[in-house]
Amino acid sequence: MDTKYSGQRQAKNASDITYVTGWCYQNQLNGLRTGAPHVLPDPNSLPPGVDPAAVREQELTRGGFVPSPGRHATAYLYRARQGPRWTRDGIRTIANDDVAPHWLNGRTEGARPQASMPRKYPRLSASKGDAVSNLRTLFHNQDTAIGVTVCTDPMPYFLRNADGDDLFFVHDGEGVIETEFGPLGLERGYYVWIPRGTLYRIVPDSPQLYMFHIENYGERFQKPDTGITGDAALYYHRNIQVPTACYDLSDGAYTVLVKQAGAFTAYEFDHHPCDVIGWDGDLAPFRFNAEDFKPITSWRAHIPPSAYCTFLGDGFEVCTFAPRPVETGERSLPVPFDHINHDRDEVIFFHEGLFFSKDKSEAGAMTFHARGFSHGPHENALQRALDRRDAEGGYMLDGYAVMVETNLPLTVSPWAESVEETDYPNSWRR
Ligand SMILES: [Fe+2]
Repeated sequence: MDTKYSGQRQAKNASDITYVTGWCYQNQLNGLRTGAPHVLPDPNSLPPGVDPAAVREQELTRGGFVPSPGRHATAYLYRARQGPRWTRDGIRTIANDDVAPHWLNGRTEGARPQASMPRKYPRLSASKGDAVSNLRTLFHNQDTAIGVTVCTDPMPYFLRNADGDDLFFVHDGEGVIETEFGPLGLERGYYVWIPRGTLYRIVPDSPQLYMFHIENYGERFQKPDTGITGDAALYYHRNIQVPTACYDLSDGAYTVLVKQAGAFTAYEFDHHPCDVIGWDGDLAPFRFNAEDFKPITSWRAHIPPSAYCTFLGDGFEVCTFAPRPVETGERSLPVPFDHINHDRDEVIFFHEGLFFSKDKSEAGAMTFHARGFSHGPHENALQRALDRRDAEGGYMLDGYAVMVETNLPLTVSPWAESVEETDYPNSWRR
């Protein structure tokens, strides 16, 4: 694919970046003075080199322009450049095979009938490429597409995903995700959320950067209702890290790709597209460390994974299995109960450690349990837990895993079928 990128990167590495905190943190004006949204910054507060006559406000909205609780959100971006200056000649479509041959769009792919059975997939091998070209969708429905990417190279363009939010979970490696709001560090164990339509570019800083990926076609994620456990439960708004503005006012040749209905359109810019000198509002990309997730537990009864819900989407939720004490009450079950998901499909990505209900759970591997069949812990996982509890009394369940549970059935992609570990359904008989 013929793309252009001639800019400096936004941060030398992930540890260079500073953040502000808060789920809906406002007033990230980067030193600019303004009275309120829709009022341009005071010309006397602009950074050197910025032409006050060129500064424009741009809104990035969710839920349209109509306020509705829980839906509407807006970012007010103050740009140092005047509005779009592209020409029709500078707009071209690019074949999916040239950009992201294995990134499927759940809204347009449609469902395919398939057997309801346990499925497992190995850790993906690294291959040369960028985070988008190497992204593989394994499962999709009308609400979400779920996959992995392992990349070696920076994206040679910026992307605006107009189809959905991108939620990345960094499994291995390190890098920076540059956005028009400012950079976010990609570090092991962090979730990074990019709201739909946000311009971004992923730059790995390690030989390979391995990430679990969830694309959300519905409204923006919510923090789950923590009810009687209070606002600070599960995690606190201070655990959400939001970027500070970081802009590049240089001229040059840049390509911005827009993904819409699974198709890619390229726009050519003659200046760096990250020209936001300050931003305001309650919509922004953020990152969140899984180590800051505080699970709810009970010593007497196994708590179902709905208590681990971290991000609530429309039609699905993302849950974090984090270190927690094992149940120790008399006759309590130290592993999950056997269950039949009548109305939910579940995907688990194994990040670190031995998953408590599995005989083995290789880091980077994934399982998919569709609705309809009975499943539960492997027998040797139950015995392992009982033996350890007998020997040690209480102990900590360690390690991390990310689970996605969906309301609508998921369709398994052809790529996933090509790498499936077909012996997995037999693993309960060993
Ligand atoms: Fe299950």
